[in-house]
Amino acid sequence: SSEMLVDSFGRFHNYLRISLTERCNLRCQYCMPAEGVELTPRSELLSHDEIIRIADLFVTSGVDKIRLTGGEPTIRKDIEDICLHLSGLKGLKTLAMTTNGIVLSKKLPKLKECGLNALNISLDTLVPAKFEFMTRRKGHSKVMESIDAAVELGYNPVKVNCVVMRGMNDDEICNFVELTRHKPINVRFIEFMPFDGNVWNVKKLVPYAEMLDKVRQSYTGVERLQDHPTDTAKNFRIDGHVGTISFITSMTEHFCAGCNRLRLLADGNFKVCLFGPSEVLQRYITSLSGIACLWMSSRRPLNYPDIQVSLREPIRAGVDDAGLKEIIGAAIKRKKAKHAGMFDIAKTANRPMIHIGG
Ligand code: GTP
Ligand code: 5AD
Ligand code: SF4
Repeated sequence: SSEMLVDSFGRFHNYLRISLTERCNLRCQYCMPAEGVELTPRSELLSHDEIIRIADLFVTSGVDKIRLTGGEPTIRKDIEDICLHLSGLKGLKTLAMTTNGIVLSKKLPKLKECGLNALNISLDTLVPAKFEFMTRRKGHSKVMESIDAAVELGYNPVKVNCVVMRGMNDDEICNFVELTRHKPINVRFIEFMPFDGNVWNVKKLVPYAEMLDKVRQSYTGVERLQDHPTDTAKNFRIDGHVGTISFITSMTEHFCAGCNRLRLLADGNFKVCLFGPSEVLQRYITSLSGIACLWMSSRRPLNYPDIQVSLREPIRAGVDDAGLKEIIGAAIKRKKAKHAGMFDIAKTANRPMIHIGG
């Protein structure tokens, strides 16, 4: 495996998240504004062949896990074909997907045949009317069916991602824990994170410590499990439950020290961190390059190298693999030790979550 994937803090990046589309069949409040987001013109989205070329280059360099995200990856027409190509890359061990589960149950048998071997499904409430409020669309029962279909097909564990927001679904934590009593699933409670367009506010954040307290008040035998150093989640088992629960504590206890994740966005931008640089740093560099006005007035993020770097442009200009590796390696070397902290992040320009894919 190559030097390209090691950053200046010695972190080796073996996990690539690929956003396959900016479109989605839901409109989750924590992910995008009600009016939707500006979509990248079709001609500026990566083609099937460009995605495979970039993925191949990463896998050859040492990436052994790829996660498909979106928007919603299952609405892409060539999703089976993409899975088939990616799962055939020599050296890839895990081909995973994070999906909202709306159209998954029908497609899952075929996706499994095409090599999809790990599955995370988003579900934030067990109350259908609340689902409709949080996602601004119908479909609660479809997601429940998809979770069961995934269990049936042998995905183990099926991970269920639950973004917890105060006053919205924090009263359902124990109901979600109850799901793990008989189902071999891993329910993951996620701290609400700020992204452009999601009206984040610290009062809506339910800290990990508070969520864990809630669980401990209702259950005995809640035991922390050993986690892997690159894990996003802190994992727990509960006496008598076949499933497990976890907490993803990006805001109150970040896990940046073990970060092994890189992101390729649907428009061909490459992101080395989920978040941008701190506001102070960003302002400094922005004014240095004399584009502050442009920055303030543009709705689309500039191609500013600390947020993202375009791989699509050099590819379409005819760059060879060695040149592409140089661009990727240089971006990884600029990666920061950790994110800037939730209050700075909330003030810093980034992409909306639906463009990043989690
Ligand atoms: P596994 O590979 O199954 O462990 O999943 P994952 O946690 O890597 O990915 P998933 O798409 O299921 O994301 C779950 C939550 O973790 C989402 O809220 C993501 O935004 C968040 N997450 C994923 N990667 C990162 C990361 O690098 N940094 C931070 N802060 N959060 C992340
Ligand atoms: N904060 C935390 N998690 C989020 N996700 C989407 N938006 C946010 C947010 N603002 C989660 C989704 C999905 C994963 C990719 O990221 O629920 O499971
Ligand atoms: Fe919701 Fe996921 Fe769609 Fe975002 S991408 S709106 S989190 S379903």
